[in-house]
Amino acid sequence: MELKSPVAGRDWQDLVAEFGSPLLVLDCNTLRQQYRKLQNALPSVDLYFAIKALPNETVVNVLHKEGGNFDIATQGEVNLLEKNHISAKKTIHTHPIKSDIDIRSTLRFGCTTFVVDNEYELEKFVRYKERVGLLLRLSFPNPNAVVNLSKKFGLSVHNVQAFLAKADNLGIHIKGLSFHVGSQSKLQQSHVDAINKCLEIITESRTQRDVPMSVLDIGGGFPIDYDGTGIDIEEFCAPINEVIENRPKNIRVIAEPGRFIAAPAMTCLTSVIGKAIRDGTPWYYLDDGVYNSFSGQIFDHAIYPKISVRKGHTQPSVLAGPTCDSIDVISENIELPQLEIGDLIIAPMMGAYTSATATEFNSLPRTHIIAVNVKESQDNQITQLV
Ligand SMILES: Cc1ncc(COP(=O)(O)O)c(C=O)c1O
Repeated sequence: MELKSPVAGRDWQDLVAEFGSPLLVLDCNTLRQQYRKLQNALPSVDLYFAIKALPNETVVNVLHKEGGNFDIATQGEVNLLEKNHISAKKTIHTHPIKSDIDIRSTLRFGCTTFVVDNEYELEKFVRYKERVGLLLRLSFPNPNAVVNLSKKFGLSVHNVQAFLAKADNLGIHIKGLSFHVGSQSKLQQSHVDAINKCLEIITESRTQRDVPMSVLDIGGGFPIDYDGTGIDIEEFCAPINEVIENRPKNIRVIAEPGRFIAAPAMTCLTSVIGKAIRDGTPWYYLDDGVYNSFSGQIFDHAIYPKISVRKGHTQPSVLAGPTCDSIDVISENIELPQLEIGDLIIAPMMGAYTSATATEFNSLPRTHIIAVNVKESQDNQITQLV
């Protein structure tokens, strides 16, 4: 398998020669394409990029130019937007559990939409009730998602009426519902079922409440193709889009995609720094590993494609990271040609939950990122980031 560098006239080795190894290459053209693909697949949904997937200044600026909004969950993410002069009007705060300081600093920034999923969290908003509109996050357990996001968070649909009654008693406005069917959700039916249930609850609320709900946040979970099985986002979203287009009037639909937009936009370049034969199997030690950019293999259960630049007869081999810890193994039983020290491994689809969860274990620095094609009109422009 060949993978072309996103910089015309310069291959991956040229980039490593100039910027060093390991290296993450962020291609802003791919970032824009992913945003546009999802927006086209869900034309009446307002997209709020989940910053946690790839918290990076270039990413937020490119998506802001595309007209994107932002899902924030922490003060650090607020700081990233403030530093880049992105208006709080373009944000929602989606962390279901927050400290009072989180709430106050987010309000100071100007963001007024928050997510809650239980009565304790609701009570935190009594003192801010004139200033906020809340979304109630529901839980929709989904065995077809790689990352389950309905165990730690989300109110059971059976408890919605009691929750809404409590909100009414406290005089707090619940302006809508939200859910997250889990990240890398393989079957669109999970989104469809959750949307249908939420629309039913919202419609019911219209007959029973003075101020009815008017927002539905369908979360993230839109899958990408890590293993070449050929996911087509248009096809994936078609049934989701159908229920959205047929929703009752005056319900605004928003989404919080992270992975789908970020993952294909970044490629990791990592080099062989050592080798050994152990029990007859070749081991290749790379300069990036699971404590660094490949951290998503641990935290996000992702397995990224890996391509050897060197070609030749292959045999089952092991790719390991550079730290002293034995968990730092990227791939076992991977078919590779005989590699030499200095050889390059290219790992595409490494934009989401990779550098975002990297550590500096063993005092090894995080892999730095270069951004290419930052401006659409100026192809091949390279910007070095910190
Ligand atoms: C609250 C919330 N919104 C959005 C996302 C983004 O989800 P995804 O990357 O699956 O699109 C996440 C991921 O963890 C999340 O927790």
